[in-house]
Amino acid sequence: MKPGLGGHPPHDAAHHVMFDDAYRADPYRSYAQLRAEAPVHWDDALKAWVVTRAADISTVLHDADRFLSNRVTLGRARFDDPSLSNLFDTIERIMLQTDGARHDRLRRLVAQAFKRQAIAAYEPGVRALAGRLLDLPAGPGRVEFVHDVAIPLPVLVISDIVGIPASDQAQIKAWCDDFSIVALNFYARISDTQLAAGRDAVAAFSAYMRDLIDQRRRDPRDDLLSGLVHAAEDGGRLSFDELVANALVLLNAGNETTTVLLVNAAHMLASDPGLQSRLRADPDQIPAFVEECLRCFPPVQFIGRLVAQDTDLGGQSLRQGDLVLTFLGAAGRDGDAVPEDPEQFRVDRAQMPHLSFGTGPHVCLGLQLARLEARIAIELLLQRTSGFDLTDEALELGPNLNLRCFRALPLRYRRA
Ligand code: HEM
Repeated sequence: MKPGLGGHPPHDAAHHVMFDDAYRADPYRSYAQLRAEAPVHWDDALKAWVVTRAADISTVLHDADRFLSNRVTLGRARFDDPSLSNLFDTIERIMLQTDGARHDRLRRLVAQAFKRQAIAAYEPGVRALAGRLLDLPAGPGRVEFVHDVAIPLPVLVISDIVGIPASDQAQIKAWCDDFSIVALNFYARISDTQLAAGRDAVAAFSAYMRDLIDQRRRDPRDDLLSGLVHAAEDGGRLSFDELVANALVLLNAGNETTTVLLVNAAHMLASDPGLQSRLRADPDQIPAFVEECLRCFPPVQFIGRLVAQDTDLGGQSLRQGDLVLTFLGAAGRDGDAVPEDPEQFRVDRAQMPHLSFGTGPHVCLGLQLARLEARIAIELLLQRTSGFDLTDEALELGPNLNLRCFRALPLRYRRA
């Protein structure tokens, strides 16, 4: 399949709001405008179709025959460098980039390993790790929530679950970061330095995993890596290369995403003392609060698909090979999906429909773990403080428009 053939109608400047200053300041306003005026439109700057209505996004994500997750075809055409072939082979083996029977098989094998433990079995470990990070000195005090809590928690939790020795976790995280920059951005914008770092990270991670996987074959433990090594169906197992690629994904997919969820949740509470008091008085509302954070501030703003064959969507004609960006950030506030006050943050909703974990065959495999981490972190933050709020420091957003997150979130707290 060739990448997009071009020849799309010229884009309407009025609709070209993606990633401009107004979008950076408030993407949700841009989404509202697009949902109303151009819910499916070609963005010539992005060289992609931009999709903002929940129903269209759901169609794209469910219809894996028409909209492919494998975007490596596009990447290979653009990066015709043999020294990068191992990097792109690895990206092509991760379940997020596969389709059809190949995806089903990978996902079943990984899910088998992941679901050996009921989600509740992870709770004591998550609580212990979150408890350590939130061991706040007697107050009044100050905590920088992003670096002290929200970044380390998901990394520690997943490294522990996979079975990475504590002494190696920092190195693994660095390799995962270098790999994920390429895996997430290769079909959009990527530099030669980032490509080289991704290639070296895959080589180093594979060499590291060879030893660890051999150990788990000989001597299985009660961890996710042992589960992956021994997962089997119809006599088939994950190959070494599949194992390496999908271990990278598991170690990665939940890190920044969960960080963003935790930061948004803490920011929301720090800005609203009334909500803090309500949740402190009734912690049973915390899961609904987390869900409303996911709906209103989706950690992953957009995900991509490739058009498999010429097709129509929302009255537009899409061509084989075109890139489609579905904006999950726009779906949660779509009035057709959330009829009551879609722009309002309300913990008392009967239902909080959102697509923030995706939907269809690739729906997030770690959604229960992400919810568990967020619930426990917020429970502990509320229990251990009698109140916390924002400082006078200006909050600055990080550079990643997809995983939209403050660089730092200093909080002033009073110990309970
Ligand atoms: C708030 C936190 C999280 C968010 C917002 C999130 C979001 C998503 C989204 C939107 C997708 C779908 C991608 C697509 O369709 O192309 C996805 C897939 C995935 N997520 Fe998550 N995720 C989170 C946490 C986690 C955690 C904690 C893990 C695991 C430890 C995880 C593992 C995965 C995996 C393995 C997939 C790929 C599934 C597939 O391709 O079949 N995620 N996630």
